[in-house]
Amino acid sequence: MARVALVTGGTRGIGEAICVALKDAGYKVAANYGGNEEAAAKFTKATGIPAYRWDVGDFGACQEGVQSVAEDLGPVEILINNAGITRDGTMHKMTFEQWDAVIRTNLTSCFNMCRSVIDGMRQAGFGRIVNIGSVNGQAGQYGQVNYASAKSGIHGFTKALAQEGAAKGITVNAVAPGYIGTDMVRAVPEKVLEKIIARIPVGRLGEASEIARGVLFLVADEAGFVTGSTMSINGGQHMY
Ligand code: CAA
Repeated sequence: MARVALVTGGTRGIGEAICVALKDAGYKVAANYGGNEEAAAKFTKATGIPAYRWDVGDFGACQEGVQSVAEDLGPVEILINNAGITRDGTMHKMTFEQWDAVIRTNLTSCFNMCRSVIDGMRQAGFGRIVNIGSVNGQAGQYGQVNYASAKSGIHGFTKALAQEGAAKGITVNAVAPGYIGTDMVRAVPEKVLEKIIARIPVGRLGEASEIARGVLFLVADEAGFVTGSTMSINGGQHMY
């Protein structure tokens, strides 16, 4: 029986590429999305993958969302915490709302989602959780105190939960993407982005499919000995 995988923020960007790669590899896939109905409809039409709308920052909504996916496809055995936003700005200009939105959507979401699937994974004696971190959580980034904190938090979260899951067949790993050619990165001012690309040894932005490839490795049944690790996929920008 194909395992059931749920990808948050799964209808666009890196999440979309992960969904497609998982489906192509034979998994049963569900995508969560936060609000862009048009993109979600386009995604489902193109891929045949069902999309479920809820706010990953809302604990109750995550519990209900996971329940709906389980009713439709079966219990979630693979969770990819990919949903994330940016609200960039230097500290002296950053509002509390910018701080709070990023921590809630990028980090609290990992608690909300993992808490919603963990009992089922423990009972099944199997689980694969992959959290999408960031090079900017590893190295920090000018104008991203909020985002770097959330992503750095994800890396600690991953290592702590990996220790808890190990004896129950649940692996927990992170993938830390560098700058990938998605809408999120394209929103960075062109001049700033040019300077960033100049510091990437591989000399280009990454492709979303290059992140999906790493995720696919980590969720495999055969990857049971890989846990608590961070796979950096960043074109050599930061060697951690
Ligand atoms: N290091 C040092 N100084 C820097 C700097 C850096 N990395 N970036 C900018 N500065 C300096 C500028 O040179 C400028 O100095 P002067 O005034 O002396 O010329 C000063 O800081 C102000 O810079 P801006 O004009 O850019 O200031 P701003 O307030 O208009 O914008 C900002 C600030 C919003 C942070 C903008 O610089 C920005 O968008 N930076 C990019 C942030 C970024 O990389 N975001 C990543 C988004 S993608 C992502 O997060 C995905 C992922 O996981 C990788």
